[in-house]
Amino acid sequence: MVRIGVRKTALDEVSADLLAVGVHRGEAVPEGLGAAAEPALSSEDFSGKAGQTALLYPGDALAAYRLLLVGLGDRSSFTPEKLRRTAATIAKRARSLGADETAFLLPNPEGVDVEGFAQAAAEGAALGLYRFTRYKTGGRAEPAEANAEDGRELQGFDLILGGSDDEGAASAGADAGATIAAGSLLARDLANEPSNTATPEYLADRAWEIADRHGMEATVLDRSGIEAEGLTGLATVGRSASNDPRFIVLEHRKGGDAAPVIIVGKAVTFDSGGISIKPSSGMEDMKFDMGGGAAVLGAMEAVGALNLALNVVALVPATENLPGGDAFKPGDVLTMHSGKTVEILTTDAEGRLILADALSYARRYEPAAVVDCATLTGACVVALGNHASGLMGNDEDLIAEVQAAGERAGERAWPLPLFEEYTEQIKGDTADLKNSGGRGGGALTAGAFLKEFADYPWAHLDIAGTAYGKKENAYTPKGGTGVPARLLVEFLVGRAR
Ligand code: BES
Ligand code: MN
Ligand code: ZN
Repeated sequence: MVRIGVRKTALDEVSADLLAVGVHRGEAVPEGLGAAAEPALSSEDFSGKAGQTALLYPGDALAAYRLLLVGLGDRSSFTPEKLRRTAATIAKRARSLGADETAFLLPNPEGVDVEGFAQAAAEGAALGLYRFTRYKTGGRAEPAEANAEDGRELQGFDLILGGSDDEGAASAGADAGATIAAGSLLARDLANEPSNTATPEYLADRAWEIADRHGMEATVLDRSGIEAEGLTGLATVGRSASNDPRFIVLEHRKGGDAAPVIIVGKAVTFDSGGISIKPSSGMEDMKFDMGGGAAVLGAMEAVGALNLALNVVALVPATENLPGGDAFKPGDVLTMHSGKTVEILTTDAEGRLILADALSYARRYEPAAVVDCATLTGACVVALGNHASGLMGNDEDLIAEVQAAGERAGERAWPLPLFEEYTEQIKGDTADLKNSGGRGGGALTAGAFLKEFADYPWAHLDIAGTAYGKKENAYTPKGGTGVPARLLVEFLVGRAR
């Protein structure tokens, strides 16, 4: 990952291959650039509109070789999320120019929290530079991005502070941002990894590595352990696959004897639908059906690196969902870990089965709160598209807390209702519950199903539309987004204060 630093240097003395300076719409460039930016501004080619850039070669006027003016838009509507996107745009531009060292004058509108701004800028740069090139022979970049310096990576991204900025606070923010971004990038890597590599066992191995790096406790149940524990939903979904399921537990114990916060992530490493098989078109995307588990592991990497003063437990039920002679079938009835019975209407509603077991397993910790995340329903994508995760739960305060964490992280979550009527829809005929509530309100009946297994403050994030993308964004290329790893970390940081 790119090295991110903080420096207090006069702008004309910043030595870098590229110096980027933000300009708000209708405002002058920050002082200290001397004559370097004058012609561009007086030509009116550059107005400071959001996203606008002008690349200049300042010659002797500055120590930096290139000067990039970047439009920040209106000062009054500038947010940390816009800063994240701006930093990403700069970092990618620098890389495509073949720059090794980039500097960015940290915008500091009056009254702003420098620490939060430095964190957002660091996150944006690190996240924006991400690409998944493992399987490109020679690790080469995409042709569209490739430059003379094919595949070369940006080395350093320094935040330049104004004279009155608090350097300690900015450093702390930049370090936190880099650490949190690294967790999110781990989540992206895990999600992008195809299912022939990213098996349940592979995820368990990555979890062991996280535990070793940060002094966490890891417990991994294999098929027989899962059966012995009575995790019927996970054992049943995983029964027909030749890659065995795993139940992964990571415990970060840095909060004394306080009740832990638990994060749970669905990790179906490939969801074919099982006997209720999915249409083949687009099925390749179902390698991303472990995005919840990936985000939880990524969040734990950051929790460990930040050494949060909190007890955090991660639960990741991991399995494939495949058809086969030994596969579970529509009409089957399962007695779940909690003792409740479930009639299977479709083997494609597998996520809620493995999560239900994880949620009832969580009871033994008497948790302060549990947040699960899962690529759970196509219906959630219909409801919210790709711009927000669906947010449900049984505790209004916790829901508000998770929503606020998502807002801070730039990983939006939006509340959806769990009215009793949705629970009625999943009441069973032959068993207590059925695993599908029919066509209407698919995200909500899935949430209502999970609610039956959570008897503590609980929130649920349906990330089917946000965990991976078909389009690139300012700081997210196509594929795994890492969502909601940063939301989870923000939430946990909030709990650790
Ligand atoms: N993994 C899918 C949900 C999904 C769909 C994620 C599209 C990302 C994009 C989940 O296991 C599933 O198949 N859900 C079904 C539930 C239905 C059968 C009750 C769905 O949403 O169609
Ligand atoms: Mn499914
Ligand atoms: Zn699924």
